Amino acid sequence: MASLKGCVAVVTGASSGIGEATARDLAARGATVVAAARRADRLASLASSVANVHAFECDVTDVASVQRMVDGTVAQFGRIDILVNNAGIGLTGPAVQVELEDWRRMVDVNVMGVLNCTHIALKHLVEAAAGPRGVADIVNISSVAGRKALPGSSVYAATKFAVNAFSDGLRQELASKHVRVSIVAPGFTKSEFIEHIRPDLLAKIRASLEAMPAMTAEEIAETITFCVTRPAGVSVSDLLVRPTEQER
Ligand SMILES: NC(=O)c1ccc[n+]([C@@H]2O[C@H](COP(=O)([O-])OP(=O)(O)OC[C@H]3O[C@@H](n4cnc5c(N)ncnc54)[C@H](OP(=O)(O)O)[C@@H]3O)[C@@H](O)[C@H]2O)c1
Repeated sequence: MASLKGCVAVVTGASSGIGEATARDLAARGATVVAAARRADRLASLASSVANVHAFECDVTDVASVQRMVDGTVAQFGRIDILVNNAGIGLTGPAVQVELEDWRRMVDVNVMGVLNCTHIALKHLVEAAAGPRGVADIVNISSVAGRKALPGSSVYAATKFAVNAFSDGLRQELASKHVRVSIVAPGFTKSEFIEHIRPDLLAKIRASLEAMPAMTAEEIAETITFCVTRPAGVSVSDLLVRPTEQER
């Protein structure tokens, strides 16, 4: 697999789960990684335990915060070759029971967060693609829910359908500029994802969620690394990755 030495990668939502595992994996391939999320303590402990991972506190829903993170990355490391838009939340539950605020938060983080980071980092990605590596990467983390909406997760699914549509349009627009846009859509993956569901709703479904077949965050991180280590002339547009025993 190609080395990422000399590349600068920004991974959002890197304080736990898939984002943290991706920050570790990209750094192991030689990239300088900016790990961005809100929980500064978790980022600091990641950065202190992995060489080449640097913590940057950032709320992807806050444009000024994203601008500071992108400007800070370029000021400190000179470029952005890879953007992994991973930060996301799934506040699932029956429509008659969840709060409207939960739906708004999912749209803010899962859709606006992706748009904020992409819009602000884009000129740096285009510049990087014109450099010696000959390519730059945006990897957007979608979900199986981005292919099929299910009861209890209609708004989460809507946000991931939006990520897919944005990614495919952007991919076509950026093709001639050599900025690849990949969708990675995981099935059920062990992480802190379910812990954000409202406690009263989670209590009813925790046992069944914990019994479901699940992948590790590292297994999805490997898939993300696969996308960004293809030869410059190869773009992996869309990967759906399920636990073997997950049926839908
Ligand atoms: N786990 C699954 O089964 C599964 C399946 C399909 C898709 N996914 C997708 O995978 C991605 C990662 O989820 P995960 O499973 O690794 O869950 P996780 O462990 O809960 O990680 C979510 C990450 O998003 C960050 N985040 C949330 N709100 C943020 C904000 N406003 N600004 C910046 N960062 C924010 C969190 O950091 P802070 O709280 O520190 O900000 C955390 O690092 C999400 O996009 C999710 O939709 C997960």
